[in-house]
Amino acid sequence: MLSTKQPVLRRFWYALMPLDHLKDGPKPFTLLGEPIVLFLDAEGQPAALEDRCCHRTAKLSKGWCKNGNIVCGYHGWEYDRDGKLVMIPQFPFEQPVPDATARSFRAKARYGYVWVALDEPLADIPEIPEDGMPGYRRINQFYDKWNTAALRLMENSFANAHFAFVHKGTFGDINQPKPEKYEVVETDVGFDAETIITVRNPANAYRITGTREPMTRRHQRNKWFMPFCRRLDMEYPSGIRHIIFNCATPISDGQIQVVQLLFRNDGEADCSTQELIDWDAAIIAEDRDMLESTDPDAIVDMGRKIEMHMPSDRPGMIMRKRLLDLLHQHGEEERPRQ
Ligand code: FES
Ligand SMILES: [Fe+2]
Repeated sequence: MLSTKQPVLRRFWYALMPLDHLKDGPKPFTLLGEPIVLFLDAEGQPAALEDRCCHRTAKLSKGWCKNGNIVCGYHGWEYDRDGKLVMIPQFPFEQPVPDATARSFRAKARYGYVWVALDEPLADIPEIPEDGMPGYRRINQFYDKWNTAALRLMENSFANAHFAFVHKGTFGDINQPKPEKYEVVETDVGFDAETIITVRNPANAYRITGTREPMTRRHQRNKWFMPFCRRLDMEYPSGIRHIIFNCATPISDGQIQVVQLLFRNDGEADCSTQELIDWDAAIIAEDRDMLESTDPDAIVDMGRKIEMHMPSDRPGMIMRKRLLDLLHQHGEEERPRQ
């Protein structure tokens, strides 16, 4: 499935950029191949417009903000947060501004990020109950561009079979290649997947897991939110919860913006933000290296028999089936690469 070729994917919310990146002015972002400009309106709420001035097509993201409006950097035409052209500085004061707009998109602030849906959303932004819950802290862990497809990242964490190989340098045990079983229950928005796995617990993981045992257990209660958000809720016997939330925001067919938030039920003195970033950075680098080697066209129609599967791939196979159903419900077929 090539993300930009399936219009129904425009009907979901995606996390685009940390809100604080907009404090010093408008910023460009390409979502599903659509160039947009993000900026903050007079209330400090995010706004999203097509990144193109209706005068001479200059990118509005090269301009600046003025009282919650955006000013084109080329000749100074000014648009409000809904994209309406409100000012042409070359016109005499009494001359009305013509009725013109830059296309606008739905934008919301949530979890410290700007979220955008290009077309009428089919689902809400996923709920994270721990956000703002007493006892939990939120860490903005990663914001990076990866050269892979969103579906590749989504299925990766639900596929236990890769731990022993890809993560042999961190928590995986190469001597245990047989994956532990996942219980998968489909939901309206995706699925819930539960498993208990045994992981290595090297010295640099002691404060992550809250134990000094050489091996520990990890109870994973994970969720997939169609199409490209996932929640990995890891609970250790110490009682520590390590909850990762990802949005794999599709920039183009072969590139995603990886957003990773972390929620922990301990304090900075127990395990510092930097330790948590360093620990997960090593793990995510192992995944990235492998995922960037895969074909960005992750086929969802398994009937095409292009990729092979094994029983522990079941979560990824359910994702393919659900995404293919989604395409069909909206009158689309999986569009092949040209
Ligand atoms: S191109 Fe934007 S004001 Fe001229
Ligand atoms: Fe992984």
